[in-house]
Amino acid sequence: MAIQWFPGHMHLTKQVITERIKAIDVVIELLDARLPGSSANPMLAQLTASRPTLKVLNKQDMADPLRTAPWLTHYNSQPGTRAIALDSSDTAAAQRLIASCRALAPLRGGMVKPMRVLICGIPNVGKSTLINSLVRKRAAKAADEAGVTKAEQRISLADDFYLYDTPGMLWPRIIVAKSGYNLAASGAVGRNAFDDEEVALELLDYLKGPYADRLQARYKLSEVTGLSDDELLTEIGRKRGALQSGGRVNTQKAAELVINDFRTGQLGPITLETPEEFDLWLAAGQKLDAERQVKKDAIELNRLIKFKKIPRPPRAPNTDTRQDPSQDQSQDTSSDALTPDETQP
Ligand code: G4P
Repeated sequence: MAIQWFPGHMHLTKQVITERIKAIDVVIELLDARLPGSSANPMLAQLTASRPTLKVLNKQDMADPLRTAPWLTHYNSQPGTRAIALDSSDTAAAQRLIASCRALAPLRGGMVKPMRVLICGIPNVGKSTLINSLVRKRAAKAADEAGVTKAEQRISLADDFYLYDTPGMLWPRIIVAKSGYNLAASGAVGRNAFDDEEVALELLDYLKGPYADRLQARYKLSEVTGLSDDELLTEIGRKRGALQSGGRVNTQKAAELVINDFRTGQLGPITLETPEEFDLWLAAGQKLDAERQVKKDAIELNRLIKFKKIPRPPRAPNTDTRQDPSQDQSQDTSSDALTPDETQP
């Protein structure tokens, strides 16, 4: 896996969200409409499970509308959840946000019980842009509120509607390999964390399925699907003049070109995952994660036993009835068996 990801300060963010959520009625989770599943933070879902959630698929102008619709249906079918798609040019963003939040918490509202909403999103998902446009519309009615963090922003979107910016940074947690690549392609992961060529190859591998015609049109290629990912990247580099001495293709430069074209929308509106695809990736990622955890636990257990912090657990009795009881290995005196000393607390 090429994504070297070190989520900094997540522990602090977790604590602060846990504290803040107690006085919150609705959580707005900002997602990147081009990669809704990958741009979600699984930790946030756990921390906010007790609150209704509005999923905002942001940057909808860059996403494939034919795929945004099924994502909205997918989220709208979940209990306590509504979903809308937005982009920074949406002039009615504030009204749409307010109406959707009110529908999620109909008992809140009015000066006595104002609606309190927390807005969260991973870096680069467009949170600052959206908040800035909301603040401008509301004649800069934003205030720093003394709270768990120094500069926690409270924005009043209506007289009885407060929007709180997430304290701290909400990094994505990458348990799905494909999500890592999609996050890197979108710009949510810093450049030092991944290898451009690997990300571009993964991106091309996906695009040449549903978006082969876009690649053909953008890079003036006669065919795409018959080429391997490496051949495709090389061909793109040749067509776009990403060459080095001797006329060879500079694949690093070609990779940067492809990633940049995706980020800036030169390939047209594209969505890198469908709900069904993401579910499959997630199931595979969770299985791997669970296997890794079992291995880690076993290593930790052995370490504790080795340093005599805990006694070795007794072996399971041998239930094989065909075996002569006198040969029962569970009674053994091998070097693995506990010495009297090891059984002491
Ligand atoms: P963040 O606070 O969540 O980290 O994200 P931020 O608002 O800084 O937005 C990250 C980038 O995404 C910015 O581009 C911003 O202009 C762009 N962006 C935000 N919302 C939308 C949207 O709805 N549609 C599109 N197409 N882009 C959006 P940038 O190139 O990093 O910065 P800049 O050139 O805008 O200064």
